[in-house]
Amino acid sequence: MTATKLTSAAILAALAACNTSSAQRAPDPVERGRYLVTAAGCNDCHTPMIMGPDGPMQDPNHVLAGHPASRVVPPPPAPEGPWIVSVSDTFTAWSGPWGVSFTANLTPDEETGLGTWDSATFIATIRNGRHMGKGRKLLPPMPVEMIATYTDEDLAAIFAYLQSLPPVKNRVPEPIPPAAPLAAAPAS
Ligand code: HEC
Repeated sequence: MTATKLTSAAILAALAACNTSSAQRAPDPVERGRYLVTAAGCNDCHTPMIMGPDGPMQDPNHVLAGHPASRVVPPPPAPEGPWIVSVSDTFTAWSGPWGVSFTANLTPDEETGLGTWDSATFIATIRNGRHMGKGRKLLPPMPVEMIATYTDEDLAAIFAYLQSLPPVKNRVPEPIPPAAPLAAAPAS
């Protein structure tokens, strides 16, 4: 390699390094939040599935809006053998030993979503695993222990992204307590 080529390669490398460090210095919280939400799979549970032309797809009109109130679900099937968890076709209503839980509306609608929350409320909810940081404990399958490993800065970015979503009016039902305690598994 000639000296000129080496020099231009070194300059390119230096420029690339500058770009990375400036991106790390001033990340746009909304974009960072979008990246974290997408990579963590929040949409898998919080955006309802509908049937599209190519099979099930996430409803583009209810992004992160939780279990659709219009989708009233019948009682879940009784657990049988090792199969103790059921999930609705929308992927937003879950039944298991904890009863039935419905994924929350994370959009900024003021009446039915997180519109009246601030960043501190959101962070406390995740840190304490409780509704608004001090209410009832969040039920499975909300992966709260996993999400609590994020830094406050990341959680604030997630919240900033959630607040940038179009608000969707959708009042998610309250969870339904378990009908009867789960029978102990037979000793093996
Ligand atoms: C495996 C499914 C699942 C995934 C993945 C998931 N959630 Fe949840 N989430 C739930 C369920 C179910 C509830 C409702 C729990 C309840 O009612 O106690 C919930 C509740 C919440 C709540 C509480 C809302 C309130 O009013 O108290 C927040 C906030 C939340 N999720 C944020 C997130 C974020 C952010 C992500 C991604 C980083 C995420 N969730 C990923 C299932 C999930």
